[in-house]
Amino acid sequence: MEFNASAANLLNIKVDSLILLTGSQLQNTAKLLDDSLNGAIQALIKSGDFSGKLATSCILHTQGKASKRIILIGTDGAATTQKMIKVMESAASLLRKTPSQKALWIGDSFNDDHEWQASIMARSVQTSSYKYNGSSKPSKPNKLKSVTYWCAKKSQTVSAAKGLVYGNAVGNGMNTARGLADLPANFCTPNYLASQAKKLSKGQAKVTTNILKEADMKALGMGSLLSVSAGSVEPGNLIVMSYQGAPKTAKPVVLVGKAVTFDTGGISLKGGRGMDEMKFDMCGGASVFGVISALIDTQLPINVVGIVPAVENMPAGNATKPGDVVTSMSGQTIEVLNTDAEGRLILCDALTYAARFKPDTVIDIATLTGAVIGALGKVTAGLLSNDDELAGQLLSGGTLSGDRAWRLPLWEEYDKQLKSNFADMANIGGEAGTITAACFLARFTRDYKWAHLDIAGTAWHSGPAKGATGRPVPMLMEYLRTKASS
Ligand code: BES
Ligand code: MN
Ligand code: ZN
Repeated sequence: MEFNASAANLLNIKVDSLILLTGSQLQNTAKLLDDSLNGAIQALIKSGDFSGKLATSCILHTQGKASKRIILIGTDGAATTQKMIKVMESAASLLRKTPSQKALWIGDSFNDDHEWQASIMARSVQTSSYKYNGSSKPSKPNKLKSVTYWCAKKSQTVSAAKGLVYGNAVGNGMNTARGLADLPANFCTPNYLASQAKKLSKGQAKVTTNILKEADMKALGMGSLLSVSAGSVEPGNLIVMSYQGAPKTAKPVVLVGKAVTFDTGGISLKGGRGMDEMKFDMCGGASVFGVISALIDTQLPINVVGIVPAVENMPAGNATKPGDVVTSMSGQTIEVLNTDAEGRLILCDALTYAARFKPDTVIDIATLTGAVIGALGKVTAGLLSNDDELAGQLLSGGTLSGDRAWRLPLWEEYDKQLKSNFADMANIGGEAGTITAACFLARFTRDYKWAHLDIAGTAWHSGPAKGATGRPVPMLMEYLRTKASS
C-alpha cells in the first residue's frame, strides 16, 4: 500500500474513489466539490439518500469527472476523538468494498491536525485489509494500491506525510498482533512465537532477538514461570526482542507481554463453554510483537525491550497443583492456590528479569483477569500503576489513539488479600480480582516505574465477529512516540 499527501488541484487528480467526510451542511472542500458536480451532493442530501449522520454513507458516481466515484461518509455529531475515528474506520472499510485501486481522501473534515487525521486514516485503511488466513497460504492481494491524503495547503502536506508513515506502521502492527492472536493454539505454540520473533528481527539492524529456553530459565531461578509450563508438552520460552533506536546509553522502555498460548486453567480446570477463546490468552505478547513491528516501520528514536514469556497452561500428572509452593526469581515464595491464575505467575518472573535492562519504565500487557470485564466491559483496558505521571501518559496516549484505558487503584487494603500461611504470598486474593492481580505484580516491580494493562476485555471480540482487535498497540505506540519526541 502506498500512501502520500498532496495539495494539488483536487479536480484534476485522477482516482477511482474520492472519500469525502461531511455532515449535511456542506463546507469548504465539500462545497467546492458539490459546485463542480452541479449540486449533485446537495441533491443527495435533499432527497434523503445521504443524511450526513454519523458514519452513514452513500456512493455517488460522477460520470466522467477526475474521480470515478465519491464515497460520502457522514460526520454530523462527530464531536469526540472516538467518533471521528469511527467515521474514518467506516470510510476505510467502505472504500475496501469498492473495486478501487487509487483513492483520494479529503482531509479537511474535522480539524487542522493533519498529522493525526492522516495517521488514523492510514491505520484504518491498513486494519480494514486484515483477513485471517492461518499459517499457510498467502491471502489474495488487495485491490487497493494507493491512497492520497489531500489537504488544502502545501504546507500541511509535511505533517500529513508524517502521520501517514506513523498510521501505516500502527495499522500494520495491529495486523501483526491480530494474525498471531487469531492463530489456533495447535499452531501458535511457545516455540512458534519464538520462531516468529526471530523472523521479525531478521535483517533488521536495530532489532536483536534472544530466546531463553526452559533450562536457561531454570538456571535463573524462574520457578514461578516454570510451574505454569510444567504440565504441558510444549516447552516454555522467554522471548526477548530489543529495538535500539537511540544511543545505547538511553534507558529503555521495557514491554512485558503475557503469552499463554492456551489457558485451560491447569488443574483448576476452566469450564468448557467458550474455552476456545483462551487461545487469545497470548494477546499481551502479540501486542509486543505488534509494537516491535511498528517500531521497525517508524524507526522511532527510542530504545525498547520487548519481553514475552510464552507458555501453555495444561493439566497433567506433572502439572502444578493447588497448594503447591514455588519460588520466583525474586526469591519470594508463592502458594499457588489456583492454577488458573497463571498469568501473574509467568509475569512476575519476566518482570524481575526486566530489571537487568536498567529500565526507564516497565509496562506489562496481559489478558489477566475476567474481573476486568465485569469492571470496564469490553470497551476499556484496566490500567494500574505505581507512578502517576506514567499512568497519565498512558491514559492520554489511549485517548488520542482511541484505544482507551481507565485507572484502578493499587492500595494496600487490596494487597492484604494475598496473605498466605505457607508462603510469602498466595497467587489469588478475594474481591476486586483485577486489582489483587495487579497488587501481586506490584510486589515484583518496586524498583522501577511500572504500569500494568489488563486487556482481557479489549484484546479480542467474541460472538459473530470473533477475533483479535490489535489493541493496545495504538495506545502503546502513542505513548512511545510522545516519549521519543520529548
Ligand atoms: N486468562 C485468564 C483471564 C481471562 C478470563 C481473560 C476470561 C478473558 C476472559 C486468566 O488466566 C484467568 O484465568 N484468571 C482468573 C483468575 C482467578 C482464578 C483469580 C479469572 O479471571 O477468573
Ligand atoms: Mn487462567
Ligand atoms: Zn490466563
